[in-house]
Amino acid sequence: MIYLNGQFMPVEKAQISVLDRGFIFGDGVYEVIPVYGRKAFRLPGHLNRLRHSLDGIQMANPHSDAEWTRIIEQLVALHTGEDQYLYLHITRGVAERDHAFPNPPVAPTVFVMSKPLKTPSAALLENGIACITATDNRWLRCDIKAISLLPNVLLRQMAIDAGCAETILLRDDQWLTEGAASNIFVVKDGTLLAPPKDTLMLPGITYDVILEIAAANDIPLEVRRISKAEVCAADELLLTSSTKEVLAITRLDGQLVGAGRPGAMYTRLHRLYQDFKRDVMRAP
Ligand code: PDD
Repeated sequence: MIYLNGQFMPVEKAQISVLDRGFIFGDGVYEVIPVYGRKAFRLPGHLNRLRHSLDGIQMANPHSDAEWTRIIEQLVALHTGEDQYLYLHITRGVAERDHAFPNPPVAPTVFVMSKPLKTPSAALLENGIACITATDNRWLRCDIKAISLLPNVLLRQMAIDAGCAETILLRDDQWLTEGAASNIFVVKDGTLLAPPKDTLMLPGITYDVILEIAAANDIPLEVRRISKAEVCAADELLLTSSTKEVLAITRLDGQLVGAGRPGAMYTRLHRLYQDFKRDVMRAP
């Protein structure tokens, strides 16, 4: 079952016009929200980011937070799994093909689906993942969670073609921004380094959780620009996202990261993240 424009229906019944501006121009925004124990994780944070993305593309929010919450609760209830992930997708609607916004505006297309959440396998947690680096060739508003993801798709595929899991992006081939679909942290001499949230990266909700966990547990933390040299000389590299949670990057561009095994910072943060999930989400 999915939600489309006010109705819940089987996905096979869902139809949208080929003139939808999401289909024609990639003119829309999205969110991915994990659901643990049938509760949406960090829902206010995700709805705030959705608002930021809609503002960024000059679209009115089609729903209040209370309405979004109700749609999400209803959709989660229609699915059996305890842990799910929600995909919210809003486009500027259906109109004759013209780059300029439809005038007068048309109704947006609002689509929400829920899928079983598959967190990383035990093997991935134990071994970590391999990544490559590439120049960040995306636009200058990567803070907007836009559905037009072609650069991210091509950058992720570069990693897959190299037998790796993710591409770490370097703006001007020099400064760490994020992964093709994840945020990246560097660990050096026991300090956790995070690139600052700006318009060149997506403000990750998992990124926020990691920063909060670090602060609450007195883990040394620096939020600042991180150079390519620092990425390449890291003791540990970590990847975060809503669906991958926290993963260790153990190989980069064919070289071992640190000892080539998930390190102490990863082990600590992963455990704290699981504790946080359990305490916050599965509390009665
Ligand atoms: N992507 N940066 C980019 C470019 C992303 O696409 C994502 C997540 C993140 C991490 O953000 P968060 O912690 O809020 O998931 C960072 C989702 C999972 C996706 O597109 O499927």
